[in-house]
Amino acid sequence: MIADCLKQVFAGHVRYAGLQEAMEYSLMAGGKRIRPVLTLETCRLCGGAPEAALPFACAVEMVHTYSLIHDDLPAMDNDDLRRGLPTNHVVYGEATAILAGDALLTAAFEQLTRTDLPAERIVEAVRCLSQAAGSAGMAGGQALDMAGEGRALGREELELLQSLKTGALLSAAAELGCIAAGGTAGQRAQVRAYAQALGQAFQIRDDMLDVTSSEEELGKPVGSDQVNGKSTFVTALGLDGCAMRIEQLTQQGIEALSGFAAPEFHIWLARQLAQRTN
Ligand code: IPE
Ligand code: IPE
Ligand code: MG
Ligand code: MG
Ligand code: MG
Repeated sequence: MIADCLKQVFAGHVRYAGLQEAMEYSLMAGGKRIRPVLTLETCRLCGGAPEAALPFACAVEMVHTYSLIHDDLPAMDNDDLRRGLPTNHVVYGEATAILAGDALLTAAFEQLTRTDLPAERIVEAVRCLSQAAGSAGMAGGQALDMAGEGRALGREELELLQSLKTGALLSAAAELGCIAAGGTAGQRAQVRAYAQALGQAFQIRDDMLDVTSSEEELGKPVGSDQVNGKSTFVTALGLDGCAMRIEQLTQQGIEALSGFAAPEFHIWLARQLAQRTN
């Protein structure tokens, strides 16, 4: 359902100088699709039909994919493998990769409008996704991440950095599902609390895998954080400390949903992500 929707993103668009090819290359390369699935399932959790949230789900995956293209650029993490393929700038050059990111971000907001949902839900979705992606969200977290290179960050600094660079977009993914469903403020607060705990556990696991996994399994380079002099949860807590913290956060995320009648999928997802290997 998500892949079909993503394929439709460029239908009818004029194609210029390989830009759309570069956008499609990264968008269709795969990835775990955690954010769009979270959007669809959170819509269901809040009483909506998952299909109603499909344009919002595609939009969040497009913003995420843009963030990865830019994250891999030589000026940022300088990585050459992503989703099991050479990174966007390796294939298309830096200028096109920058533009592919820009255009995916912009096209995501067009996606939010490709729906028959009531206009006030679309406006709320625009507000939610723009705040999560911008300087008070993912981009701000990436700025802190870059500014922290070569310095030992304390745990509080790291938690802030990660809650912005990873947590904000994961939280938006869940909240967009609630918005599509027309959920209540109470439901939205609960899914936000769940996704924020999940987001932190997710980044801790990402930092662990950068140390413990292999390129084949991850589909992206390992050891990138050390090469770039990043402070990560592994440098702050150690591998055992990371595992314990993931356990706590997973429990905390699950408890945040205690007000819902059927949060089985979200419980399953939290447990899966806690042990993920890619
Ligand atoms: C990677 O996200 C970047 C982080 C926020 C840690 P994912 O691990 O969800 O990447 P894909 O979408 O599966 O490629
Ligand atoms: C990046 O974090 C998170 C984004 C906002 C893209 P990382 O730099 O740790 O992500 P990976 O490990 O390259 O996927
Ligand atoms: Mg990075
Ligand atoms: Mg990176
Ligand atoms: Mg990483």
